[in-house]
Amino acid sequence: MKASDFGDDFFWGVATAAAQIEGASASYGKGPSIWDTFSKRPGKIKKGHHPEMACDFYHRYKQDIALLKSLGFSVFRFSISWSRILPSGQGAVNQEGIRFYHQVIDECLLQGITPYITLYHWDLPEALEQEGGWTAFSINTAFNHFVKVCAKTYGDKVKNWIVLNEPFGFTSLGYMLGIHAPGKTGLTNFFSAVHHTAIAQAEGGRILRAEVAGANIGTTYSCSQVVPYTQSDADVLAAKRVDCLMNRLFIEPALGMGYPQADWDVMEKFSINHSTWRHTERLTFDFDFIGLQNYFPITIKYNAFIPVLQAWEVKAKSRKKPHTGMGWEINADSFYNVIRQFAAYPKVKNLIITENGAAFHDKLTGTRVHDQERISYFKLYLEALLRAKKEGINIKGYMAWTLMDNFEWAEGYNARFGLAYTDFKTQERIVKDSGLWFREFLSQ
Ligand code: FCB
Repeated sequence: MKASDFGDDFFWGVATAAAQIEGASASYGKGPSIWDTFSKRPGKIKKGHHPEMACDFYHRYKQDIALLKSLGFSVFRFSISWSRILPSGQGAVNQEGIRFYHQVIDECLLQGITPYITLYHWDLPEALEQEGGWTAFSINTAFNHFVKVCAKTYGDKVKNWIVLNEPFGFTSLGYMLGIHAPGKTGLTNFFSAVHHTAIAQAEGGRILRAEVAGANIGTTYSCSQVVPYTQSDADVLAAKRVDCLMNRLFIEPALGMGYPQADWDVMEKFSINHSTWRHTERLTFDFDFIGLQNYFPITIKYNAFIPVLQAWEVKAKSRKKPHTGMGWEINADSFYNVIRQFAAYPKVKNLIITENGAAFHDKLTGTRVHDQERISYFKLYLEALLRAKKEGINIKGYMAWTLMDNFEWAEGYNARFGLAYTDFKTQERIVKDSGLWFREFLSQ
């Protein structure tokens, strides 16, 4: 397999997110985000880590863009920190923040790298969380304002836009399970966050369409093939409920299909039954591309003791399946299968793999990191992707997660996903063997 097998118009990039790399979290006029405050709460982030310094990308963006270029990538996906642009989420803009992203964009363009901007990658301004965050009706006005500011400011230079990063990820981990910021729990919080988020993805798309001439607009979804543990009716139905949540909850309203409540009636009980034409229309947007982010499949078994969902994940480890340092199952066929699942929606025009990668327990040996496991992972997953592409699925590009080890949310700095190793004491980047492998792969 060579990169050229994917075709001349297929692009290769790396993906990052502001809160995970920038640092300077309380400098240059930036307001606090929910991740700044959440990380101060004892026990929330492993080893008490926090995103204050992260990879210091704020001061090192030139080198980092040069680094991704040196590995042969042509696309850089990064996100805009909402509270750097609008310190309290709405109202007056912070000119220093505005200037920073101009500099990052200009540097990309200077180095011949195409920027893909994610508008929301999980770092909600804390001031908005104080008003209820994604559970509050008012979030939509604030989000629309943020989108408009970004589109008007950078729309002349940047044509590729991603409205949201993994809406199911942040609404479930942040508003139902409490493992991520802002640490809220329960289904009432979850479903109201879901609804406002689903509105935000469509309205964000509409604002970009109106403000940015020639825009290429997408949004991203975490996706995982959901596999029933056995073929018993109970397991199959439990897997179906989980699939509604993990894979269908946000894309179906965006495509004009409404929420997948016909397959899981609990949504109606949580007043998410917005099936009138007006709601359906408000939740719909004609995205130019759908971003898929895949890491692992999930195996589901019926379990009567789990409230509402009555489903339980049987982990890769306990099934003795190969897994990454995060315990995530390595299964490239499931990547292929979930791509097919999303490509089967007739209204999906183009797909882009906007994240894929793996964390392992990397060790620095002198000046090298011999991460053979990560190389094997990428080879397997890229072969599966090529298979899907050769079958005619419209996949435009691939972005590896991620350029360099960074702040991995509740896991702190210990989960290393980078193609370059970050020495967090010196901020040195050391290209891992997997980064060198990509350089070789992309040159062919
Ligand atoms: C995704 C997130 C990304 C990163 C990877 C490992 O779910 O979008 O920020 O944390 O997982």
